Amino acid sequence: MNILIIGSAAREHAIASALKRSPQQPNLCCYGSAINPGIKQMTTHYHVGPLTDVDAIVNLAKEWEVGLAVIGPEAPLSKGLADQLWQALIPTIGPKKRLAQIETSKSFARHLMQQYHIPGLPRYRQFSDMNGVEKFLKELGENHYVVKANGLMDGKGVKVAGDHLHFFQEALAYCHDIFTLGQTIVIEEKLIGQEFSLMCFCDGKQVVPMPIVQDHKRAFIDDKGPNTGGMGSYSDVDHSLPFLSEEDVQQAKQINQAVIHALSTELSDKYIGILYGSFIATCDGIYVIEFNARFGDPEALNVLTILESDFVAICQAMVTEDLSSTQVRFLHQATVCKYAVPNGYPDTPIKNVAIDIAAVKNKTRLYLASVNAIDGKIMATGSRTAAYVGVADSISAAEEIAEREIRAITGPLFHREDIGTDKLIWRRVDEMRRLRAT
Ligand code: AMP
Ligand code: GLY
Repeated sequence: MNILIIGSAAREHAIASALKRSPQQPNLCCYGSAINPGIKQMTTHYHVGPLTDVDAIVNLAKEWEVGLAVIGPEAPLSKGLADQLWQALIPTIGPKKRLAQIETSKSFARHLMQQYHIPGLPRYRQFSDMNGVEKFLKELGENHYVVKANGLMDGKGVKVAGDHLHFFQEALAYCHDIFTLGQTIVIEEKLIGQEFSLMCFCDGKQVVPMPIVQDHKRAFIDDKGPNTGGMGSYSDVDHSLPFLSEEDVQQAKQINQAVIHALSTELSDKYIGILYGSFIATCDGIYVIEFNARFGDPEALNVLTILESDFVAICQAMVTEDLSSTQVRFLHQATVCKYAVPNGYPDTPIKNVAIDIAAVKNKTRLYLASVNAIDGKIMATGSRTAAYVGVADSISAAEEIAEREIRAITGPLFHREDIGTDKLIWRRVDEMRRLRAT
C-alpha cells in the first residue's frame, strides 16, 4: 500500500519510521515543506510545497495512488485537507476541518467542555472586543490570568500573567493587538501545577491512549528563557509520569474520551485521528490547558519510538472504525527526547548552516526536523533542527543515551542538558508534592 505523510519535520520523521517498521512493508510518500533526508530515504515519492495547498496535496495523492494519508501538522487540518482527502476516497488520519476546531479555536474547545460538562475546565470568558475585558482581568486578579488568541498563532498566541504580562495595562494592550489582527480572545484563570500530554488514537468512537509524556517549552536550562515549540520530553517505563497518581491518569483519559464523545454528538461526525490533551495537574485535580488535533512534537517522538505494534494496522483500524485497545502495545521502556536547535533560537536563530550527524551512533532514533538537504549537505533552516530519543529501563539511563547522541551532532546548535535528568525530574515531583500539600 502507498501511504502519504503530510509534513516533513521530526514528528513526521517519527511517523514515517513507525510506518516503515510495519511487517506490511508499505510504500511511503511525503508531501513536505522542505527535504528532510531522514524521511526522503524511506520514501518512493517526495514533493516540496506549502502544507496548506490542499488541492496540490490531493492531486498528488491521487497521482501517487495513495491508499492512506497521515496528516502531521495542524495547518493543513485547519484548511480542510482531511475533508478533501476523504472526498477523494483516500482514508485519512487527521480530523476534518470542523472537528479540528478542537485545536484551531480555543473558544470552541472551551464552549464544548462547558456545554457537555466535561471536567477540567478553568474559569474563562470569550471576548470579541475590549468591552468587559478589564473587569474580567480584575476579577481573576493580578498575576492570575492567561490571555489567548482564539485562532492558530503558530504557538505564539498565549500570554501568561507573571511570565509574559506583568501589569493589567500590558494585558489590555495585548488584547487590543489581537483584536486588531481580527481575532477574538479567550481569557482564563491561570492554573498552577505540572503540565503533561496524553495523546490517543481515535477511530470515531474508541479512544486508545498512548504513554503520557512531559514536554519542556522553555528554551534554556531550569525552564528559563522564551517559550519554544518544545525542547525535549520524557516518558516513564509505566507509561505515566513520576508526579502523577493513577487517579490523575484516569481523569485525563476520561476527559479525552468525553471530548471525543462530545465532538461526535455536537458535529454529527466521527473524529478519526489523534487527539492530544494538554493537561495540568494542580492542587485540586486535573485541568485542561488545550487540545490538539494531531500528534505533539516532540511527544510523538517519545511514543512512536516505543510503539511495539504495527502502526499501519493501527491506522487501518482507525479509518475503518475498528480500533481496539488490544491492538495497541508500547514497550515498557522509558524515553528521553532532546532537541538540538540553532544558536539564537527561538528569537534570532542562525539559519542555513550545515550540520553533521555522522558521529551519531544509532541513527534510527535520530529524527531530523527543520532541515533541508542541499548538495548532499544537511542545512539547519532556523527552527528546531534534530531530536534524539534515548530508550532504556529508566528515565536517567534514557537521558544518558539522549545526551550522548544529541551532543554528537556538530554545528552551531544547542540543547537543554537538563531534560530527563534526575535533578529536574525530582524537582517536578517535589513541586507537585508541595502543591498537593497546600
Ligand atoms: P496553549 O497554546 O494553549 O498550549 O498554551 C501555551 C502555554 O501557555 C501552555 O503550555 C501553558 O504553559 C500556558 N497556559 C495556557 N493556558 C494556561 C492556563 N489556563 N494556566 C496556566 N498556564 C496556561
Ligand atoms: N508539544 C507541543 C505541541 O506539539 O504543540
